[in-house]
Amino acid sequence: MTQIIHSVSDLQKWSMEQKRQGKTVGLVPTMGFLHEGHLSLIDTAHAQGADAVAVSIFVNPTQFGPNEDFDRYPRDFEHDRILCEQHGADVIFAPEVNDMYPAAVTCWVQEEEISKGLCGKTRPIHFRGVTTVVTKLFNAALPDLAVFGQKDAQQAAIIKRMVRDLNFPIRIIVSPIVREADGLAMSSRNKYLSADERQRALTLSRSLREAKEALENGTRTDALAECDVIRQKLTASGGVVDYVEALDPETMLPVTSGSQRPVLFALACAYGTTRLIDNMKVD
Ligand code: PAJ
Repeated sequence: MTQIIHSVSDLQKWSMEQKRQGKTVGLVPTMGFLHEGHLSLIDTAHAQGADAVAVSIFVNPTQFGPNEDFDRYPRDFEHDRILCEQHGADVIFAPEVNDMYPAAVTCWVQEEEISKGLCGKTRPIHFRGVTTVVTKLFNAALPDLAVFGQKDAQQAAIIKRMVRDLNFPIRIIVSPIVREADGLAMSSRNKYLSADERQRALTLSRSLREAKEALENGTRTDALAECDVIRQKLTASGGVVDYVEALDPETMLPVTSGSQRPVLFALACAYGTTRLIDNMKVD
């Protein structure tokens, strides 16, 4: 049975009890409306040695900008609860906004390098909200390990940096992107797409895969030029490109021309009012 916990102090008590029993505690932070991508993180937590897994479901207001989709973000707690149960989660942590933020926040946790680029350019307060809420979730769940998805590559890199710089005693595991059969990266926001937009949005994964193939088989050699190719394909498919960048997968900083090292292509592109992200590593 998956236990549902609403308050921070009850989750702390649960976690300390697990540890007293010698168990390794794993945390999977989510905003709910769970899909196979989220569920793979629960499986990864188990596979990486967590004996007791907590999944947090909390749509965090501080990471949404004033004109973003906080109010219409999809929610379905009962469905989420069944999926967590099926994947053997021990606890769902589902706080109310007032439990997590009983008073206005005047203390923030902020990463100041990786968070500036990519999504940070158009979503200036987003990562400050993420690092702050993840810190609060870490202090609530007191996990030994926490699992994040490669789908949000920039977020995962920022969390790793935060844990390194601030000495959180938590092992961060990054789990691979789970895709639909046709290649679209799974996302709670895919639900916003019309049938036509959903079809055109396949260009994200397709253009990334074509770039990966061209560079890995040597048909083309310049990662920076490949960003332009991807950009053109996205625009031709009716997408409005936010960014397409070639990055060092370790530092998440842009690569320089002629680099022969592995590259992570990361992009954000909107179809209608829905902004999607995707990324792919090229070895
Ligand atoms: P959310 O978008 O719900 O995602 C929760 C976790 O699931 C993140 O680590 C994300 O990278 C991972 N994830 C989402 N889609 C995935 C996919 N297709 N394959 C693999 N992993 C996937 O990211 C957040 O919530 C929030 O910012 C959060 C970290 C919970 C802080 O509020």
